[in-house]
Amino acid sequence: MTEATDFVTVAPAADLPPGERLVFEYGRHWVVVFNVDGEYYAIEDCCTHEEYPLSEGTLRGYSIECAKHGANFDIRTGEVLAPPAIIPVKTYPVRIQDGQIQVAVPG
Ligand code: FES
Repeated sequence: MTEATDFVTVAPAADLPPGERLVFEYGRHWVVVFNVDGEYYAIEDCCTHEEYPLSEGTLRGYSIECAKHGANFDIRTGEVLAPPAIIPVKTYPVRIQDGQIQVAVPG
């Protein structure tokens, strides 16, 4: 069985300038959205190592470094770039609709 996915409106795009991030909760999911040079990326706000919020990490380019033990993930793909995490983090589609950031998260 596949989960239904809907785009949900998160915030006005103007509220998330380049270099910034925002976190929102939807259902059972915590999601962090990044603006990198005008492009938006959304990942689950949960490190796959020990479930620490990735939104508290350091972003360098497209790499988010977990603040707890230093795992790195590519925010575009979720791929692990550096241990100790070994499982990719979930990524979610993002779109801008009528000036609003919308993220597709499982329902
Ligand atoms: S909780 Fe993120 S690296 Fe350990």
